[in-house]
Amino acid sequence: MDDIKEYIRSLPKAELHLHIEGSLEPELMMKLAKRNNIEIPFSSVEEIKNAYNFSNLQDFLDIYYQGAAVLIKEEDFFDLTWEYLLRAKEDGIVHTEIFFDPQTHTERGVSFETVINGITNALKKGKEELGITNHLIMCFLRHLPEEDAFKTFEMAIPFKHLIKAVGLDSSEVGHPPSKFERVFKKAMDEGFLTVAHAGEEGPTDYIWEALKLLKVKRVDHGVRCMEDADLVKYLIENNIPLTVCPLSNIKLRVFDEIKDHNLKKMLDRGLNVMINSDDPAYFGGYLLENYYQCYQDLNLTKEDLRKLSQNSLDACFY
Ligand code: HPA
Ligand code: ZN
Repeated sequence: MDDIKEYIRSLPKAELHLHIEGSLEPELMMKLAKRNNIEIPFSSVEEIKNAYNFSNLQDFLDIYYQGAAVLIKEEDFFDLTWEYLLRAKEDGIVHTEIFFDPQTHTERGVSFETVINGITNALKKGKEELGITNHLIMCFLRHLPEEDAFKTFEMAIPFKHLIKAVGLDSSEVGHPPSKFERVFKKAMDEGFLTVAHAGEEGPTDYIWEALKLLKVKRVDHGVRCMEDADLVKYLIENNIPLTVCPLSNIKLRVFDEIKDHNLKKMLDRGLNVMINSDDPAYFGGYLLENYYQCYQDLNLTKEDLRKLSQNSLDACFY
């Protein structure tokens, strides 16, 4: 491994924007399809990989939800999470706060309990055997109605002790944070922290709504904040972390190439940014690869890398 990769690996890092369903590698997808007798429209790992050419977020989401259909049993969720944790260990991750999307599974008849038991059993083993600490963040799918989010919230109540925060993901444009103001209010009343995807494809107004209405403690993505000087000022003054995902932004065409990404500008402006992998099985790289490509193509210094990793630790929900 070259020196800089070894340096990145050695920095203690937290991953704060990782969809566990987005860590489903094609190999595991094939294996689970077979194990569970599920038909998928691919006959080889190569065919799956060739389908991963996206022109926007929705394009990706269509394939991502299709892929998640192979996850049926508790052991499937366990295997998925355990594989991610092994990768995380290799990359020098010491703490992870992972998103899961219960609605992706409950809509297919898989119980909430099956999903959360499989994930949390693997997280427990990861803590004991790999020394990786964790929190779990339950995301609502924003393209579905508010009422469905409320139903999901009710399902989560018996497992409240296992979930640190609620979040918001899926198709952003047309589904503003305000749509979920009431369910987030209820979640906060029950003691959950809040985060939300905002300003990935959606406008800066959505970031304001996430901050003001959903009272988010971190903004997921948030890269479009740079279009609004008042918003940048607010984010800096309130030290709100932004969980930036560089390779995701390239694959989903938020930026053309890493060299066009605004991560370095955000960092230099004084924003509290860090690097994350989002859906690494779909976007071509886990955390270390995200750091490495930014180092190479954004001319980051070692001090930038250190600062980004420190920001990730400072933004954790300890
Ligand atoms: N954005 C919105 N929803 C998602 C993403 C993302 O990057 N990844 C998985 N669900
Ligand atoms: Zn995401």
